[in-house]
Parts: sequence; C-alpha cells; structure tokens
Amino acid sequence: MSERMKGKIALVTGAARGIGEAIARAFVDEGARVVLTDIDDAAGQAAAERLGSAARYQRLDVREADDWDEAIEGVLTNEGRLDVLVNNAGITGFEQGMVAHDPEHAELADWRAVHATNLDGVFLGCRAAIRAMRPSGQGSIINIASRSGQVGIPGAAAYASSKAAVRNHSKTVALYCAEQGLAIRCNAIFPAAILTPMWEPMLGDGPEREARMAEFVADCPLRRFGRPEEVAALAVMLASDEASYMTGAELIIDGGMLAGTATPSVDLGPKE
Ligand code: NAI
Repeated sequence: MSERMKGKIALVTGAARGIGEAIARAFVDEGARVVLTDIDDAAGQAAAERLGSAARYQRLDVREADDWDEAIEGVLTNEGRLDVLVNNAGITGFEQGMVAHDPEHAELADWRAVHATNLDGVFLGCRAAIRAMRPSGQGSIINIASRSGQVGIPGAAAYASSKAAVRNHSKTVALYCAEQGLAIRCNAIFPAAILTPMWEPMLGDGPEREARMAEFVADCPLRRFGRPEEVAALAVMLASDEASYMTGAELIIDGGMLAGTATPSVDLGPKE
C-alpha cells in the first residue's frame, strides 16, 4: 500500500457498486478516509464495511439539496473537513428496462429523470463542495462524465446531453474557483465501456450476452471492456497532490475509442 492520499477526507457518490465502489476502495488503499454515499443503503453499507474502519456509509440522493446539506454537515462534524469530492452517481435511464431514449421518441419525464441525477446531482455536489472547501481554500472535485458527453448517442439522448453538460460545468467550476483565488481544482474523467452493473440491462443474461459484449467494444481499439479499477487509478491521481497543477482538465479512459477510426493499412510498396 502506498499513501498518495494520506490524511485526506473524501466523499464519493454512487459508491455502493461499480466505479464508485472501486474509487472508494482505491482511496482507502492510498490512505484516505472515505464516506461512501448512495441511495442503495444495503449495498452501500456492505461496501463500506468491506473497506474497514477508514470508511463509513451515509445515504445521499444526489438529486436532493437537503441530502447534500446533511451529508456535508456530517463530514465536517465527524471528519473535520472535506478534501475530495467525487461526483460519480449516474444513471443511463435503462435501469428499470429498455425504454426509448432517442430524440424522436423519448418521454419528457425520462429525459428529466436522467438530467436530475446526472446533471442536477453534479451541480449540487460541486456547490456543496466549494462551500465546504472554502475555509481551507483547497480541495479536489472530480466529476465522472462519459465518452457519451463528447459524441452524440442516438439511442441515449438524455444520457449524452447530461454528460456533455457535466463536461462544461466542470470547466466552469474550475475557472470559478481559480477566479476566487481558491486552490479548489475541478477535473472530469470520461470513461467508456467499463464493465459494471450499469451494463446489465443492455447486455442481458441470455445466450446473446457474449455477442452483445463484443458488439459494444467493436469500435474499441483495445477490443475489451475496461475495469472499474482502471478508472479509480485516474481518480487517485486527480485527488492527490500529484495533480496540483491540473484543473478544468478532461481525462479520457476509453480503450482508445475517441482517438478516431483506424484506417486500414495500405501497402505502399517496397521502401528505399
Ligand atoms: P452503476 O449503475 O454500476 O452504479 C451507479 C451507482 O449510483 C449505484 O450504486 C446507484 O445506486 C447509484 N445511484 C443512482 N442514482 C443515484 C442517486 N440519485 N443518488 C445517489 N446514488 C445514485 O454505474 P457505474 O457504471 O459504476 O457508473 C458510475 C458513473 O460512471 C456514472 O456516472 C456513469 O454514468 C459513469 N460512466 C460509466 C461508464 C461505464 O461504462 N460503466 C462509462 C461512462 C461513464
């Protein structure tokens, strides 16, 4: 165990499973104290217990301003200050089954539900963190956006729109904090195709699961899904003092998907 986050106090949203849980684990492994938050209390409690005495669970629905007030007040009272916030909680809109999310057929209620978690949640989180970090004048806010926030996604319009807005808001927060003379950094991570429970409704558990998995990573130069731990490694770097000169940055972790489309090699004949 190294101690790149020794003594730091972190709060991670959506930490009951998937990428959030992996980030919480990596933070603890690097010497931080972590407050895991989620709306799935049973899974959140269990995840915190697995991490031992450096972790605890607190319910926090990222859509609710009152929940944010309560959670941050709890951190300031129990842990004394907040150094790192990871706005990780996010939904695709497909959690209860596949429904239309294309620009022609999506329901307004479904569009709003995705933005309430993915965008309102990040706005409320950044606001709460700036207020909590202002007394010390420093901290690291990490927003989990998505590759889907950098390109259009015909079948997941609300998700793509919400993540594009997270990309922009992260830069606004970074510039605002700098303008205020605060060493509060705000950066965003853009993952793609990370194998977590989020994918279950899209992959299913039938005989076609393997084929669907291959289809989802067909455009990925590395030809595989990423692991939550691989995203957590980036979060550790941004949370630690190693990233003290990074703010407003975008870190893409997508197996090379956004690098472009590989053109077939052309045989140009013998080289002199
Ligand atoms: P997941 O679905 O496995 O876990 C999400 C967690 O967020 C769950 O524990 C859930 O209970 C919690 N959550 C949902 N709504 C919440 C709310 N209102 N308040 C608090 N917690 C809530 O998802 P995964 O894959 O771990 O994703 C984490 C983040 O990474 C999300 O923002 C997602 O959009 C983003 N992401 C994931 C990618 C992937 O391929 N898995 C790719 C790109 C981005």
